[in-house]
Amino acid sequence: MDKITDVQSEALAAVEAAVNLDELQQVRIKYLGKKGAIQALMSEMKSLPREEKPAFGQKVNVCKQTVTEAVEAAAAKLEAKALEEQLINDRLDITLPGVRRETGTIHPLHMIQQEIEDLFVGMGYKIAEGPEVEEDYYNFELANIPKDHPAREMQDTFYIDPNTLLRTHTTAMQMRELEKAKGKTPIKLICPGKVYRRDDDDATHSHQFTQCEGLVVGEHITLADLKGTLEFMANRMFGEGRQIRFRPSYFPFTEPSVEVDVSCPFCNGKGCNVCKGSGWIEILGAGMVHPHVLEMNGFDSEKCTGFAFGVGLERVAMLKYGIDDIRNFYTNDQRFLKTFDRFD
Ligand code: PHE
Repeated sequence: MDKITDVQSEALAAVEAAVNLDELQQVRIKYLGKKGAIQALMSEMKSLPREEKPAFGQKVNVCKQTVTEAVEAAAAKLEAKALEEQLINDRLDITLPGVRRETGTIHPLHMIQQEIEDLFVGMGYKIAEGPEVEEDYYNFELANIPKDHPAREMQDTFYIDPNTLLRTHTTAMQMRELEKAKGKTPIKLICPGKVYRRDDDDATHSHQFTQCEGLVVGEHITLADLKGTLEFMANRMFGEGRQIRFRPSYFPFTEPSVEVDVSCPFCNGKGCNVCKGSGWIEILGAGMVHPHVLEMNGFDSEKCTGFAFGVGLERVAMLKYGIDDIRNFYTNDQRFLKTFDRFD
């Protein structure tokens, strides 16, 4: 009987001494396990005289009960303590400054392109995109620039083979769309994209640049429609109050052809160093689609007419954001690109 008392107090002391759940588990096994000390007491009962068995058995049961309860109570306490410790260890100090993730910014040329796309999609134009490696046929032939035509020299071309080239203007895409329409009107689309010309790169020239050309073909389309459309675009791109003017020009695929100036947004037409004192800035080329181009693409030039224009996006971006070197668009200098995050 004394042995039971000893085992019990020894077990309770061990429970008390366990500082974590692992230690407590060891204590549980040592005293309450199948091969534990209390089970051993049970086995001893067999060797006792019969009359002592009930009292002994009862005492062992009480001992087992007492130790079990003590272990459970200790387990609850230690679990609470472990949780508390975990909460303290995992604590997040939200007052610490965070680690800033580097994020990119939209490239200024894309900004301009998106702006122009929004503007024209809002007027019901669709966007047509196509290959940068283009056939001579679409880039030149269908645009009324046959082989040996002197106008081919206006655009120094990167040829891949005699019939394949890097497109020199997105007019190539307009020709693809005209051909696809098979004489059906109306056509209203813009073609944004990269174009290539052999050029020595400097502050204002680049062998690669970005164009957005527009094309409208239908009945009763006039030069006045072209003027209204470009005036709307100039006002949206350079601020309200812009005026535009047409100067006669030459493109093989338009007749008449015009060069388009916008009244200088920096001095409001009074004359400043950006417009070199003239009050006007040249922004694009345009004209009425040449009847021959319409005919070659299967349109009846007696019935329908059209206008087309082409604008260089680098030029627009340079004017709009005051960028003085076209190479900035292509050298990917983060210090330059980062300055555009404020326009997002
Ligand atoms: N394709 C011409 C160029 O690249 C621009 C243009 C487009 C002119 C449409 C008139 C009409 O210079």
